[in-house]
Amino acid sequence: MELVQKLSNARDVQKELVDIDWDNLGFSLTPTDYMYVMKCCRGEHFSDGELRRFGNIELSPSSGVLNYGQGLYEGLKAYRKKDGNILLFRPEENAMRIQRGADRMCMPCPPVQQFVEAVKATVLANHRWIPPAGKGSLYIRPLLMGSGAVLGLAPAPEYTFLIYVSPVGNYFKEGLAPINLLVEAEIHRATPGGTGGIKCIGNYAAVLKAQAAAKAKDFTDVLYLDSIRKKYLEEVSSCNVFVVKDNVISTPAVEGTILPGITRKSIMDVARSQGFKVEERLIAVDELLEADEVFCTGTAVVVSPGELYGNNGVGPVSQQVYSTLINLQMGLTEDTMGWTLELKLK
Ligand SMILES: Cc1ncc(COP(=O)(O)O)c(C=O)c1O
Repeated sequence: MELVQKLSNARDVQKELVDIDWDNLGFSLTPTDYMYVMKCCRGEHFSDGELRRFGNIELSPSSGVLNYGQGLYEGLKAYRKKDGNILLFRPEENAMRIQRGADRMCMPCPPVQQFVEAVKATVLANHRWIPPAGKGSLYIRPLLMGSGAVLGLAPAPEYTFLIYVSPVGNYFKEGLAPINLLVEAEIHRATPGGTGGIKCIGNYAAVLKAQAAAKAKDFTDVLYLDSIRKKYLEEVSSCNVFVVKDNVISTPAVEGTILPGITRKSIMDVARSQGFKVEERLIAVDELLEADEVFCTGTAVVVSPGELYGNNGVGPVSQQVYSTLINLQMGLTEDTMGWTLELKLK
């Protein structure tokens, strides 16, 4: 709390934005001023962290994260409103998700309030890097890793929680234009009993090969199928998938192999509030042949429509749920859901 207060007071000194090309932000790293760092030992709790100048970190060559992949990440965004204040979207959901991941990966984790305060402090410290309203967002990347040295396979003796941020524009260069997904039946993202349902770092290295092969064939990304029957839709490398048919919006049920996306959960609530029937169930890949629309959801992409055979425009349902969510996240409509957290710049 104190850290946030100190930053609020110091903020008047530099209210202006940094001088970068806000009109051409993609989804790549632009280093900013500060990162947040907090450490603790195995079996202990994280105590107060600190803001440091953004830069490289030092790790033992024998650290748990480098040798055994004991690491998790999160992703959320801050938007600048027209009045200059800043909106975070459901940060406590990211805090709860990283806790579930930490439990699975045998790591200590900051409690929800501590996570959210750390996010707030990091965003305020880097407020000059939050794009002007309508130009993009500040992507916030919390990391939790086994930073202590281990040689035999075991949980690391020390852990680091770190947050860095970067201004970003669209994740897919297509923006809201439809993306092309390659359905992949041989390489799997996750298996039952594995770690598909959490954001552990190994899940992402494991899909690079399939993603590279898809990109080489001019596809935007990969749509994975279940690893047992190789028949049911799971998700894309870093977003969830929805299928629309006759005003029913369906998404694969989350049962351990699929990441429970916060955008996914929010879109289901938005869709229900707009009178759509929403189903979480097994979705056979063949249903794509009959679907009216398909779209992906995630923090980075928000909502991204997929191309279907003979139909490559943005469908009305994808457009409607996208507009509702993005307007709420950007503070353009009233947040009747109570999902946004406003940070005031004096
Ligand atoms: C594998 C995977 N699926 C789905 C998502 C979407 O989740 P969220 O909406 O919480 O960003 C992400 C991104 O976090 C992801 O990495």
